[in-house]
Amino acid sequence: MSSLLDRPAPTAAAHLTLRRGAARVLIDNWTGTSTVPSRTLYPHQWSWDSAFIAIGLRHLSVRRAQQELESLLAGQWADGRIPHILFNPALPHDAYFPSPDFWRSSHAGRAAGAPSAPETSGIVQPPVHALAAWLVHRADTGESRRRGFLARVYPRLAAWHEYLLTRRDLGGGGLAAVVHPWEPGMDNSPCWDPPLQRVTPSPPDSFQRADLDHGHPADRPTDLDYGRYVRLATDYREAGYDDRAAPHGFAVEDPGFNALLIVSEWALAEMARDLGVTGEPHTSRAEALTRRLVDRLWDAEAGLFRVRDLGSDTLIDERSVSGLVPLVVPHLPPGVVAGLRETLGGPHFTAPATSLVPSYDLTGHAFARTRYWRGPAWFNTAWLIERGLRVHGHHADAERLRQGFLAEAGKSEFAEYVDPTTGAARGTRHFSWTAALTLDLLCADPEESTS
Ligand code: SER
Repeated sequence: MSSLLDRPAPTAAAHLTLRRGAARVLIDNWTGTSTVPSRTLYPHQWSWDSAFIAIGLRHLSVRRAQQELESLLAGQWADGRIPHILFNPALPHDAYFPSPDFWRSSHAGRAAGAPSAPETSGIVQPPVHALAAWLVHRADTGESRRRGFLARVYPRLAAWHEYLLTRRDLGGGGLAAVVHPWEPGMDNSPCWDPPLQRVTPSPPDSFQRADLDHGHPADRPTDLDYGRYVRLATDYREAGYDDRAAPHGFAVEDPGFNALLIVSEWALAEMARDLGVTGEPHTSRAEALTRRLVDRLWDAEAGLFRVRDLGSDTLIDERSVSGLVPLVVPHLPPGVVAGLRETLGGPHFTAPATSLVPSYDLTGHAFARTRYWRGPAWFNTAWLIERGLRVHGHHADAERLRQGFLAEAGKSEFAEYVDPTTGAARGTRHFSWTAALTLDLLCADPEESTS
C-alpha cells in the first residue's frame, strides 16, 4: 500500500526532473570524444567549457569526463599552452568564425609548438583544467588509478601552468597576463574598453561573423568589438603566436583568470601527492600567486579585485564579476573575504531578478542587461562564487546561491545567461556548462545524497 511517505518530496521530484534535463543536454551535445558548448553557437571544443563540463560529466560517467579533458589536451602545444578552441575537422569553415583557416595553427603556430593536428586557435582561456581533473579523479579514484588518468594528465597540466607563469608574465609582477579579450573568457566586458581603445579595428568587410546566425545581435558583442578582436588575433598570428615577439596591443592581468590558476595550482599539489611526488612546488607557487594577486589587484576601498591594464600599468576603474571570482581562492586574508562578501551583497551585484551574480556592476555606466559579459548573469561564475562561499565557511550564503542557481537553470532551459533585471533567459539554450554545473550542484544536495 502506498502512502504519502513513499512519494518523493516536491524538491526531490523537481531535482530529479532537473537532473534528467541536464543529463539530456550533455548527452545531446556529446560528439563521441568531447562535448560542444552548444550545437549551434559554439560547435567545436572550447577549453574552459570542457573543464566545467567535465566537472558535471563526472556525475554521469567518470570515463567520459576523463575523455573530455584528454581530448582537449590532445590539442596542447609544445610550449604548454592549451588553445581556447579545438576545431572539429568534419564541420564546414563557416560553422564558426574565426575558423581554422583564420588561425592557421598548424602552420603559423608551428614554431611555437602547435600540433600538426588538430587545428586549433592560438589564444587560451582560464586555467580551470587542473581543478576539473582533480575533481574527476576524486569522483572515482579506483577507476582513475586503474586507467592511469592522473599520471597522464598531471605533466601536461603542469606544463600548461608553466607556460602561463613564464611566457605570460608580461607585467613582470608574477601574475599571468591575457593578450586577447577572449582569453579571460569574458569577451566584451567593459573592463576591456580602455585598453581596446588603443586597438585599431580590422575593417568590417575583412571578415564575416558567424555568431549572428545563431545569436540575437542584442545579446552579442558589437561589430566594432569584433573588428578589434580580429585585429588582435591577426597580429598575434603574424608574430607566430610567439609571446616574446608579438606586439601585444592588449595585455591585462585579470583577477578571475589568476584566481583559477591559483585554485588549479592547489589541485596540482594534490595530484602530485597522489602520484607519490612532492606537492611543495605547487603549494609555494599557489601561496606566492595569492600574495601577488592581493598586492597587484586588490582594491580595498571598492571591496573587489580590479583588472590591471599593462599598457598603462593602472587598475581599470570598473567592477566586474571577475573581481569577485577570487573568493574561490583558499587562504585569502580575512579582510579580503569580508570585503568580497560585502560587495556581493551590495548594490553593484545584488540583482533584482536573479540569485546569480551579474557579470558587470548593475549601477555601472556601461551596464547592458542582455549583452553577453556587459551585465548578464552567467552560471559558471555563480558556481565559482558558490564554491568560494563554502571554501570560506559561509554555508548559508552558498546554499541560497545554490538553490537559486538550480531553480534558474531549470526555468531557463539551461540558458547561457540570464538578464539580471528581469530574470529572462538570454543567449543560447541547452548550454553545456550550465547543464554540467547543475548536475554538480544537484549532487551536493544534502537531501539527495541521503536519499
Ligand atoms: N566566446 C567567444 C565567442 O563568442 C570566443 O571563444 O565566439
